[in-house]
Amino acid sequence: MLNWDEFHEDETSVAEQPALAAPAPAAEPQPEAAPSDEVQESSGSYKVADSDRLVRARKSLEELDVAAGLEELEMGAARIEVDDKQMINARADLNQLVPFKYEWAWQKYLDGSANHWMPQEVNMNADIALWKSQDGLTADERRIVERSLGYFSTADSLVANNLVLALYRLITNPECRQYLLRQAFEEAIHTHAYQYCVESLGMDEGEVFNMYREVPSVAAKSAWSLKHTQSLARPDFNTGTPETDQELLRNLVAFYCVTEGIFFYCGFSQILSMGRRNKMTGVAEQFQYILRDESMHLNFGVDMINQIKIENPHLWTPEFQDEVTQMILEGTELEIAYARDTMPRGVLGMNAAIMEEYLHFICNRRLAQIGLKEQFPGARNPFPWMSEIIDLRKEKNFFETRVTEYQVGGALSWD
Ligand SMILES: [Fe+2]
Ligand SMILES: [Fe+2]
Repeated sequence: MLNWDEFHEDETSVAEQPALAAPAPAAEPQPEAAPSDEVQESSGSYKVADSDRLVRARKSLEELDVAAGLEELEMGAARIEVDDKQMINARADLNQLVPFKYEWAWQKYLDGSANHWMPQEVNMNADIALWKSQDGLTADERRIVERSLGYFSTADSLVANNLVLALYRLITNPECRQYLLRQAFEEAIHTHAYQYCVESLGMDEGEVFNMYREVPSVAAKSAWSLKHTQSLARPDFNTGTPETDQELLRNLVAFYCVTEGIFFYCGFSQILSMGRRNKMTGVAEQFQYILRDESMHLNFGVDMINQIKIENPHLWTPEFQDEVTQMILEGTELEIAYARDTMPRGVLGMNAAIMEEYLHFICNRRLAQIGLKEQFPGARNPFPWMSEIIDLRKEKNFFETRVTEYQVGGALSWD
């Protein structure tokens, strides 16, 4: 099991090891020979293991049809112009990053890279002690930690698989793909972070990682997301008709606006509220870094959806707007059900009714971000501190930010 005690023990044991034998005295320094310009002859002391194979390789290269290998590149065609680029169904060469058309996508790639972090950087000592102590946390608080790790430990894999196996090939813009690759790596780091928490706390891995199939309020959210990966992941799925282009938009709404934009918010606010009360501060610190990444993923998805709408206004019909509104409402209802399941009573200064208003507020935000009508006018944000955490200077260099805005004595400051 990973824990910080062992980490420190390892350091001690290294320090306690007997010093290595003294190195042999250095030989007398030799004057360096001047480098020669002479071309070295091959020693000729090795042979080709299978000369027939080499002959066949050379013959195959003679027959290589470069034009066929690069058939989509139209050798000799005019160079790419910015106007050739588009979000979906582009015919322009996808192997050339520049010239940029969507500066916002490239900027998000740079911002995401500047915020790089790894789970092992977070000290989990206090969490391990608190988790293992008999009366450190109440049963309701433990339930929140378990459910959160249960949902998130597989949710980020669902997102990553959707990106890589369904979405990536259908977004036909190199700077957006560059961000998608960055996002995919961040999703891997998030899954790593949850695994790291589970392992550090000595939780039952089988129970946590199977929660998305075994606990109804967790399973319902995961099943809702997975449903939207299925059609795009079919090898014969392609965009290019209004129906298939709308199917791609459904996927973007399902993953960016609902999964990353709603399904993460009850668990995030519960764990961050715990951190603000000085409990499970390592887990909360991991969640805070993940939330920073996720808010960028969400904003990127919103930008993609809005750009596709601008380029393809015929897709955004009143019927389709109605359908997308319903999807976002479905997601909100599932998250409210999750809030009720995880908070049967008031805990951490929250309860399911307050969370419901928060989720209605979040639902309004998601609808407005893609130009749809708010469905809960007047819903307020009962957790203004969540917005402060999300809005903390994401564009700033992560390490700089940690020192000046986050880190107090080796941990995050929770006001
Ligand atoms: Fe994630
Ligand atoms: Fe994400």
